Amino acid sequence: MRRAILYCGAAARGREWARITQESTDDLELRVWPEIGDAAEIDYLAAWTIPAGLFDGLPSLKAVFSVGAGIDQLELATIPAGLPLIRMIEPGITACLTAWVAMAVLAVHRDLPAYVAQQRAGVWRGMKVVPPAAHRVGLLGLGHLGQSAAAALGGLGFPVAGWSRSAKALPGIACHHGDAGLAAMLATTDILVCLLPLTPETRGILNAELFARLPRGARLVNAGRGGHLVEPDLIAALESGQVSAAVLDVAQQEPMPEGHAFWQHPAILLTPHVGAVTQTETGIEALLDNIARFRAGLPVDGLVDRAKGY
Ligand code: GLV
Repeated sequence: MRRAILYCGAAARGREWARITQESTDDLELRVWPEIGDAAEIDYLAAWTIPAGLFDGLPSLKAVFSVGAGIDQLELATIPAGLPLIRMIEPGITACLTAWVAMAVLAVHRDLPAYVAQQRAGVWRGMKVVPPAAHRVGLLGLGHLGQSAAAALGGLGFPVAGWSRSAKALPGIACHHGDAGLAAMLATTDILVCLLPLTPETRGILNAELFARLPRGARLVNAGRGGHLVEPDLIAALESGQVSAAVLDVAQQEPMPEGHAFWQHPAILLTPHVGAVTQTETGIEALLDNIARFRAGLPVDGLVDRAKGY
């Protein structure tokens, strides 16, 4: 019997993925929700978000693949416990996010938020210019994306440290872990970059207490999720000068609501959750490759540990 992947996400990408799947596999078909067809033929779900009640109608489902790098948007509690959940690791996401992080770090390193504000006010005034070596970058999260960002930032000349939940040893990165490691890294971080997965443990981690542990005037980059940042705490830290600038790709509420204090803040640069987007060609290649591994009983790339939440 023909087997199928059900795709729930941006329709244009779904149509491309259906075409590529048809061209590159003999016995797999990709169907774009809500065109489910015979539900008994659906073995795999590839989703950005999952429509309510979907699992009840998919009796043969064997695994759930996230279309994105993150999985928090899938609402883990609604996914049946026995189903393996796999996040997307694909070179397109890694390349895009690495470039976005480099852009954001360079922006705060070279005072771009202040220069944008000066430009609006018609002010031509230079600030002190320092080399990358003068700004220590601390990465929260040393997974696939964190390691790639670390390599790029190290290549630009920034001293790079990183923090992860469990101990890691990575060439060229001062690795920290656990609570003590976090305190040590924060105390020596001029530009803090969040690349963490959003879990109950990391929700709200970017808060007043954490900002207070950074050197005065530190800069913040958030490429994780809006839920990592306690937004009023950032406003207060910018007002007090504890944090001097921020570049944010994510917000508590997306789209960010009208009238939100971040829109007009002179020390904040925003992008609308575009740091990385799963790329059509490399994304489907990674998905089909992972499904082939799964079918062959081989380990898949990006298997989520439900207890850890990533
Ligand atoms: C984007 O935020 C993703 O999770 O891929």
